[in-house]
Amino acid sequence: QAADYSPAVIIGTGYGAAVTALRLGAAGIPVVMLEMGQLWNTPGSDGKIFANMLSPDKRSMWFKKRTEAPLASFLWLDFANHDIDPYAGVLDRVHFGDMSVFVGRGVGGGSLVNGAMAVVPKRSYFEQILPEVDADEMYGTYYPRANAGLGVNNVDPAWFESCDSYQFARVSRKAAHNAGLTTTFVPSVYDFGYLQREEANEVPRSALASEVIYGNNYGKRSLDKTYLAAALGTGNVTIRTLHEVRDIAQQPDGTYLLTVRQSDVDGNVLATKQIGAKYLFLGAGSLGSTELLVRARETGKLPALNDAVGQGWGTNGNVMLGRANHIWDPVGSLESGMPALGIDAWDDPQYPVFAEIAPVPAGLETWASLYLAITRNPERGYFSYDAASDSARLQWEISQGQPSIDAAKHLFDKVNSANGTIYRYDLFGDTRAFENRFTYHPLGGLVLGEATDLYGRVKGYSNLYVTDGSLIPGSTGVNPFVTITALAERNIERIIAQDVR
Ligand code: FDA
Repeated sequence: QAADYSPAVIIGTGYGAAVTALRLGAAGIPVVMLEMGQLWNTPGSDGKIFANMLSPDKRSMWFKKRTEAPLASFLWLDFANHDIDPYAGVLDRVHFGDMSVFVGRGVGGGSLVNGAMAVVPKRSYFEQILPEVDADEMYGTYYPRANAGLGVNNVDPAWFESCDSYQFARVSRKAAHNAGLTTTFVPSVYDFGYLQREEANEVPRSALASEVIYGNNYGKRSLDKTYLAAALGTGNVTIRTLHEVRDIAQQPDGTYLLTVRQSDVDGNVLATKQIGAKYLFLGAGSLGSTELLVRARETGKLPALNDAVGQGWGTNGNVMLGRANHIWDPVGSLESGMPALGIDAWDDPQYPVFAEIAPVPAGLETWASLYLAITRNPERGYFSYDAASDSARLQWEISQGQPSIDAAKHLFDKVNSANGTIYRYDLFGDTRAFENRFTYHPLGGLVLGEATDLYGRVKGYSNLYVTDGSLIPGSTGVNPFVTITALAERNIERIIAQDVR
């Protein structure tokens, strides 16, 4: 047994990891969580924990020399990005050729940087993507449990109609309705009561102060405030930060031995440690968990991993676009960073789209309506191991993004023609109207029922589990974190009952 040993180790602190930690801790099992990012609880010299999007600094991004915001430009000028010092910041953009993937780094994973939209997929679509998972159980038990644990709330519809914060969303709604489309409110883990007090100037502003992708100083129920706080409250869970797991091997006695690199916030390696575990849970996200198992298989450390490890990766059909509004349709200079409305065209037989009405929190009138469209793109990528860099490389061709563009174009051509408006061609660094060279929603790589059994147990090994977005086969039809959370709730309940006790 390794000198540094814990009965259960969880890699990562995102949604799947946080659920797993709470349930194991509550069952009385000692748990160590290993997180490569920081614990975000200490204000900088400006008194804030996180930087905002208008004046990003080193806290904004994970070891970059310049920020890499999703909106690359405005009127073709690069307003959004700034030179920064490389540092263990909160948002990473990982580049793989034709695709780059945004992920959160820190205690709470993606919950620190995401748009807080907490959406349950349509049941009929869930049944298509994960047909072997009992949908009655998911919709009757685990989705409600996830929503409760995450602290999901809804905007007050009356306030929504009268506030300044969502004028941009009302303008987009009018344009959608003119095209005969349906819009729907989107639940959130941002505290809408806090947002109302922000607009009324009763509390410090966060969603109304251009804080989103580089973290929110107030208002957001990120995992460190919900599941992880509850996990720590069991007294059985500890979190080690700035600990990156590099390798997983199995010992002759069947326990796992992790090689872990501990660094400081400037990236200096402080120590390389070995940590042992009987039960090992991978919650490092689609990129992180998949890389660990692809590396373990290809370097011969876990040779019994099957060929499905590294397969079935998708972008959730993400594509971003902007429309130019008429001069008489201002969106307002105050935009909530947290979306609250979406266009629901998922029932379109050929081109299903769920388009969140996204803010441009620039602090000035932009006459722009921005959307992150989620489409049903059947294309899948896969990961291969690159020995020279000892990393897993995503294989995804730019042409694989075309179905997402086709679907978004089908929808927004209708919106434009009904309103006499056009696309914005100035937002993505060149003249393209549709940006699909990045995703916020990496899913798959260790798909449920293929790389693992139907509860996330890795095939070929005992006591080795996947808990995160890598279980989901590339698409959820809506923003994914509630589904990741609910699936983790379902799986850990079974694993505690059958394996751990
Ligand atoms: P997640 O990625 O959350 O966590 C993985 C953690 O593991 C990270 O903290 C990482 O640092 C750590 N890690 C990785 N490798 C490691 C290693 N080797 N060793 C140690 N630690 C390691 N979704 C949604 O439903 N609604 C929304 O509004 C949005 N909006 C949004 C905006 C932006 C900007 C982003 C980037 C993402 C979103 N998302 C979203 C997506 C959502 O945040 C995402 O699906 C989940 O965070 C994924 O949860 P996981 O549990 O899979 O891992």
